[in-house]
Amino acid sequence: MAASTSFSFSILFLLFSISFAATSFRPKSLLLPVTKHPSGQYITQIRQRTPLVPVKLTVDLGGQFMWVDCDRGYVSSSYKPVRCRSAQCSLSKSTSCGDCFSPPRPGCNNNTCGHFPGNTIIQLSTSGEVTSDVLSVSSTNGFNPTRAVSIPNFLFVCGPTFLLEGLAGGVSGMAGFGRTGISLPSQFSAAFSFNRKFAVCLSGSTRSPGVIFSGNGPYHFLQNVDVTKSLTYTPLFINPVSTAGVSTSGEKSSEYFIGVKSIVFNSKTVPINTTLLKIDSNGNGGTKISTVHPYTVLESSIYNALVKTITRELRNIPRVAAVAPFGVCYKSKSFGSTRLGPGMPSIDLILQNKKVIWRIFGANSMVQVNEEVLCLGFVDGGVEARTAIVIGAYQMEDNLLEFDLATSRLGFSSTLLGRMTTCANFNFTSTA
Ligand SMILES: *[C@@H]1O[C@H](CO)[C@@H](O)[C@H](O)[C@H]1NC(C)=O
Ligand SMILES: *[C@@H]1O[C@H](CO)[C@@H](O)[C@H](O)[C@H]1NC(C)=O
Ligand SMILES: *[C@@H]1O[C@H](CO)[C@@H](O)[C@H](O)[C@H]1NC(C)=O
Repeated sequence: MAASTSFSFSILFLLFSISFAATSFRPKSLLLPVTKHPSGQYITQIRQRTPLVPVKLTVDLGGQFMWVDCDRGYVSSSYKPVRCRSAQCSLSKSTSCGDCFSPPRPGCNNNTCGHFPGNTIIQLSTSGEVTSDVLSVSSTNGFNPTRAVSIPNFLFVCGPTFLLEGLAGGVSGMAGFGRTGISLPSQFSAAFSFNRKFAVCLSGSTRSPGVIFSGNGPYHFLQNVDVTKSLTYTPLFINPVSTAGVSTSGEKSSEYFIGVKSIVFNSKTVPINTTLLKIDSNGNGGTKISTVHPYTVLESSIYNALVKTITRELRNIPRVAAVAPFGVCYKSKSFGSTRLGPGMPSIDLILQNKKVIWRIFGANSMVQVNEEVLCLGFVDGGVEARTAIVIGAYQMEDNLLEFDLATSRLGFSSTLLGRMTTCANFNFTSTA
């Protein structure tokens, strides 16, 4: 999209009717498979366009919306750009209205709202048109996939092909699950009138997919484990300052923040500057959860304090040369093997009070970098780190996390390995 300069203040109190289910079948919940790529990205697949084609997208938990490469191979008879000053345009919080000075095609239309799709893996943003097309995903009863359902006018943003740089092969965009009106879970719940919540269960295996449920539970995994009723809850916080690549002043962050108050290892409290754990008025500090960071990233002083505490507690275990990006590695055989991964004392993130703990066991704290070496799966984010703690995908694996936007709380299961199941144990046999 070229020349997106004229602002359109759409003060329209219209009834939004963004999307209605094409059929009378009303699902309670939708299901997306999520596969771990060797790069550490988590890839989901939807079907889109007319005729429907499969589209692979990198999952961006805090991302604002879905964006797709419209420049290469986008063919669809149901592509509908979002017109300036329309209700869909204001729902998307677009601040620009643009024209395109070449023949019309997907991604290039006149009188169209603009937005800023961002590749959060390589930190690159650009402009693109807001648009809509048919999207189809599987519904679920919480046990199995049920029939596929379509949303006729699913909103997304077009990106150029170069924005795919750094994304896993075969991927043509990113799927944003963040706190906006047009993220995937928001549009799913609007389309089918279900609760504004979704649950993420990432598999640690590159061969067997995990799942994202959007809508209501239950969340059942083989053999007959219902995770729905055994979640611990902590408040989700809103960072008042956008963390997106491009934003307007006053825009809130679409990412999910929680309140870590302290970190404990082997019953020793890690000495950290607790000021860093609060979100300040510039939007710095605090703890967020991210699927685009393969490992948890800690601001330098927190990283150093954690490493010091852990290496002191494990001083009798000989260290081996560190393997990048990690700083602390040990011989694997120094650790016993348990149901919860390498026999490593847990790293506890203490939340709103001392009883609410996100406990990280060996399977989520130690990374097998080769047959002989295990490394602490946390990385140093530098002294300039904007967010003090970014809980990365490795620490989320085989933990179910339920994001409830209506009540602004996170439900977390702790490791499913302790319940003899994994996120890869959803029964994908369809009962449609
Ligand atoms: C947009 O309008 C301009 C001026 O009327 C025209 O030259 C251009 O071809 C149009 N572009 C598209 C994509 O329709
Ligand atoms: C703690 O961090 C805050 C924010 O970076 C900083 O202003 C303050 O000086 C730090 N306090 C100590 C004791 O290092
Ligand atoms: C998976 O679901 C199918 C369909 O309901 C069922 O027939 C099958 O037994 C299930 N598999 C397991 C291992 O329970």
